[in-house]
Amino acid sequence: MRALQLTAYRKGGLALNEVPLPEPGPGELRIRVHHAGLNPVDWKTRDGQLRAVLHYRLPQTMGNEVAGEVDALGPGVQGFAPGERVFARLAKERMGGFADCVVTSADLVARIPEGVATTVAAGVPLIALTAWQCLFEYGEIGQGSKVLIHAGAGAVGRAAIQMAKHAGAIVTTTVRARGREVAQALGADHLIDYREQRFEDIAKEQDFVLDAVGGDTTRRSIRVLRRGGRLCSISAVPEWRTAGDLGKPMPARLAYSLLFAVISAPISIAARLAGVDYRFVFMRPDGAQLQRIAEQMASGRLHFETAREYPLQDFASAFDDLEHERVSGKQVLRIAGEPGG
Ligand SMILES: NC(=O)c1ccc[n+]([C@@H]2O[C@H](COP(=O)([O-])OP(=O)(O)OC[C@H]3O[C@@H](n4cnc5c(N)ncnc54)[C@H](OP(=O)(O)O)[C@@H]3O)[C@@H](O)[C@H]2O)c1
Repeated sequence: MRALQLTAYRKGGLALNEVPLPEPGPGELRIRVHHAGLNPVDWKTRDGQLRAVLHYRLPQTMGNEVAGEVDALGPGVQGFAPGERVFARLAKERMGGFADCVVTSADLVARIPEGVATTVAAGVPLIALTAWQCLFEYGEIGQGSKVLIHAGAGAVGRAAIQMAKHAGAIVTTTVRARGREVAQALGADHLIDYREQRFEDIAKEQDFVLDAVGGDTTRRSIRVLRRGGRLCSISAVPEWRTAGDLGKPMPARLAYSLLFAVISAPISIAARLAGVDYRFVFMRPDGAQLQRIAEQMASGRLHFETAREYPLQDFASAFDDLEHERVSGKQVLRIAGEPGG
């Protein structure tokens, strides 16, 4: 089968190779991939930016999330049948979604709601699980919470705006002109043009900030939170609790906790002095949580779209567009089937 593989940690380090069809082991199933979602983590992985936390033995098939159909079941798998339409955020240490087929633990897989095309479903798991875990597991947001979501036009931002609104939150978001319409349509209450205005002059006394930008945006976000508020970043520096998100056993977990505590000290201390808690979330794959998200898609509470679809062989331009944020919204690779199918 075809597989888009990382052969070296650098820009030209991807190659479309022929590899053997993988066999599912106990508790696993094989998915015939129709579409696979592209995410910033793909080009960051290619460039070796995440090597400190994610080690791959090369060549490694890339691709973190897929939508397709069940192709084969390993021993002991129940609840899925061959031909069923499914999607998943694959295990980080294994991935492999940019290929004709991928084998994954059945625990990570959920059913695609009827009427949702695989081109759309492929772009949902990673961003929706990220938004869910930030907003509800860490943020504990609910009715009346004041929430600032940075990068509301981005893929995570779009998911987060919808989820926060359905939870009853009052949502402020940062977008530039090209993202205004989409953020408004998703239900954001207040929009701040991050190129024209300083968000900390406008948003005040927030309960929770979701930061998908990092750098200066993270530091300035401390000022918009009330005492006791929570600053959740997915793009700045990891802190000691992030070590738990990596799923590493002891003593590696302890070593990562110490390392992350050191590198996050400037932002963690600045937050603490302002009475704010700083947390960096490294999302985790979770099939049961994805199934809940799928139910919300089925009921129309969550709506996702794909901005651009690339055939697998056009991976170089897809990665280039992704890295330079040329496309506003979700990009996917088409592995099989018809465009838009
Ligand atoms: N830690 C984790 O587990 C995790 C999980 C998922 C994603 N992430 C990270 O989260 C980030 C966002 O991911 P994504 O999938 O949403 O990416 P994306 O779809 O490429 O969106 C990024 C958006 O950021 C916006 N942006 C750029 N600079 C900004 C600023 N200064 N203020 C406000 N918005 C700004 C851009 O919006 P405009 O169109 O308005 O320019 C762009 O649409 C990436 O860095 C990704 O690696 C981390």
